[in-house]
Amino acid sequence: FRGVIAVDGPSGSGKSSVCRAVARQLGLRYLDTGAMYRAVTWAALDRGVDLADRRAVATLCRALVLDITTDPASPGIAVDGVDVTGAIRQTRISESVSAIATNLDVRADLIARQQAILAEEKGPGIIAEGRDITTVVAPDADVRLLLTADENARIARRARELHGTDDADALAATHAQVATRDKRDSTVVDFLAAADGVVEIDTSALTFDQVVATVLRVVSE
Ligand code: CDP
Repeated sequence: FRGVIAVDGPSGSGKSSVCRAVARQLGLRYLDTGAMYRAVTWAALDRGVDLADRRAVATLCRALVLDITTDPASPGIAVDGVDVTGAIRQTRISESVSAIATNLDVRADLIARQQAILAEEKGPGIIAEGRDITTVVAPDADVRLLLTADENARIARRARELHGTDDADALAATHAQVATRDKRDSTVVDFLAAADGVVEIDTSALTFDQVVATVLRVVSE
């Protein structure tokens, strides 16, 4: 495969791990666009910029040097030379990222950067994942997929990622986080329904390996 594979889906749909595995198997580059929204959130908090001040956040965003690696074996991101790969996964970032993702000027800037990366890497081939890749960033991608899963499956996956277990306490702690973020995110991008021409894969009842196999099958068709 050579070209662009676009993948969207909500939190806990498993898209990051699935896309990385597909990239490694097919020898493609890998772009995690969520990491870019998280990195801008990290920078705004680091610089003490009021997240509600849309113009200030957009100005900050446009001035940032975002260096994102597209190697699926070691995804990483740096902001103005500072490696924030680990820091952007903190809960404080997950809780604030919707304020950044709903800023339309920030979106315009990040979308342009993502499109530039895709244009550069589509020769070797790249798989990009996020919320608006199939619809806005790369509507003309060679393959367009939406990974979905029912809310319970998504919360259980995220609980295992964050807490190492999906017992009742972990589920309760994760439920509010996932549901709140989905609700805020979906006010800007509709990632819960497949757009025209997008292949939807419901992963609720599938194992990780089954999802990867399904994606590989769609790509080879
Ligand atoms: O943690 P999770 O996999 O749910 O999300 P992520 O892919 O790391 O993205 C973090 C946040 O960035 C999402 O909650 C969205 O608010 C935002 N995002 C977006 O708006 N558009 C994208 N293409 C990717 C992420």
